[in-house]
Amino acid sequence: MYILECSDGSYYTGSTKDLDQRMEQHQSGEGANHTRKRLPVKLVYYETFSRIDEAFYREKLIQKWSRKKKIALINRQFGELKQLAECQNDSHFRNAALDSAALDSARAAGDVDNDAGFDSAQPASTVDHEHNLSSLSEVEMSEVEMRDLSNLPKIELHLHLDCSLSYQVVKQLRPEITEAEYRQSFVGPPKCTDLKDFLTRARAGIEVMQTEAALRLVTLDLFEQLQADGVIYAEIRFAPLLHTEKGLTPEAVVAAINDATAEGIARTGVQAGLILCTLRSYSEEQSMQTVHLVEQFAGTHVVGFDIAGDEAGFPIDAHIKAFQYARSRHIPCTAHAGEACGAKSVWDTLEYFQPSRIGHGVRSVEDPELMDYLKARQIHLEICPASNVQTNIYDQLKDHRLPEIYRSGISMSINTDARTITDVTLTEEYQHLHTIFHWQKEELLHCNMEAISHAFATEEVKADLRLRLLAAWQ
Ligand code: ADE
Ligand code: ZN
Repeated sequence: MYILECSDGSYYTGSTKDLDQRMEQHQSGEGANHTRKRLPVKLVYYETFSRIDEAFYREKLIQKWSRKKKIALINRQFGELKQLAECQNDSHFRNAALDSAALDSARAAGDVDNDAGFDSAQPASTVDHEHNLSSLSEVEMSEVEMRDLSNLPKIELHLHLDCSLSYQVVKQLRPEITEAEYRQSFVGPPKCTDLKDFLTRARAGIEVMQTEAALRLVTLDLFEQLQADGVIYAEIRFAPLLHTEKGLTPEAVVAAINDATAEGIARTGVQAGLILCTLRSYSEEQSMQTVHLVEQFAGTHVVGFDIAGDEAGFPIDAHIKAFQYARSRHIPCTAHAGEACGAKSVWDTLEYFQPSRIGHGVRSVEDPELMDYLKARQIHLEICPASNVQTNIYDQLKDHRLPEIYRSGISMSINTDARTITDVTLTEEYQHLHTIFHWQKEELLHCNMEAISHAFATEEVKADLRLRLLAAWQ
């Protein structure tokens, strides 16, 4: 969609496909509300969101932006708008200015009318970039700003409930435990041998999560952690069958966590969905039982299905039926792959499970054909950098190949995976990316916008999240 602001202060919008037509209407003076010939306009927003509720989004954006003037005002005449539409065709933010060379050549060709309208005489170099997202790439964020990332709203699509217990909640559940003991049993070492070793560290959390009361406390505790971290939308995952050791039924497990999620949302304002996981080590029957739970809890906070666990130790065969079933019921799916195993595992996962997202998937980078496929099919990678170092995919964060993945244009987000085992927050993940890869707000915001696009949420929720992110990050 695009939004144009006219020099009389009014706004109008349309879908990107008729931007050209709109501009021509203006040039010929046929605009519905604006009869003045060549009424000067500013392109204040230009983006192609797929499948959005455009009317809703349009209304909200205009309400917000006309009031707050938050968005960069790129002042352009019609010829330039056209170029802008053409040259900015596939990134999230198309409110970028033409580069000055393009602008100069447009001027030289006489395409730019400098004597009428809205800042039209303003040279490109002085165009107001104050709130222009694209200009963020040109601005090195100061260390102060980067240190303050905790306050910025964030989206997190990949974190495990049973791997994310704070000391405070463990102390509530096991009052005798000391902080040293907690760190010893719940937090993993900086380096595990491999994913299998890492997964053994989840045992302590699972052990204390075997009653409805404990499940509630752990869920509420995670909401508090998320709130403190600036997360405004999270998809929290867990394997219901892991919490039946003391007699809870799988249904009771999901109900307890689902109810606590409602309570957590109400208390903290953090929006959330729940993803139910089967595990690689499970039987076909257990996987079917898990996907049936997703179906049973449809319409609650349960939003999707996943497979986690020991990728290298167990093949995918036992789980094909469950993913087939999920597809037949239109259940949104993600799947862990490309973590302990390479590109072949991702190919198999894509072929047999057909998820819209991959948990991790970072080893896809080992196969250029797979990279092309992920990009072409818009498969989203939920990347968890610190976890990948801890599970020993990479020696250090500097060796992580996420910058290549980002540059390839594959949709990706940044996530913690296991806040306690890895001892990391999302804010810290962002800070590490800034320190090691010099990521700025532009990259971080882009990942957040990609996360929203691939979230298992309604278009209404997504539109709201986009607004909140854009308003805060600019
Ligand atoms: N469960 C928790 N963290 C996991 C990971 N990184 N991979 C697979 N299963 C997991
Ligand atoms: Zn995971």
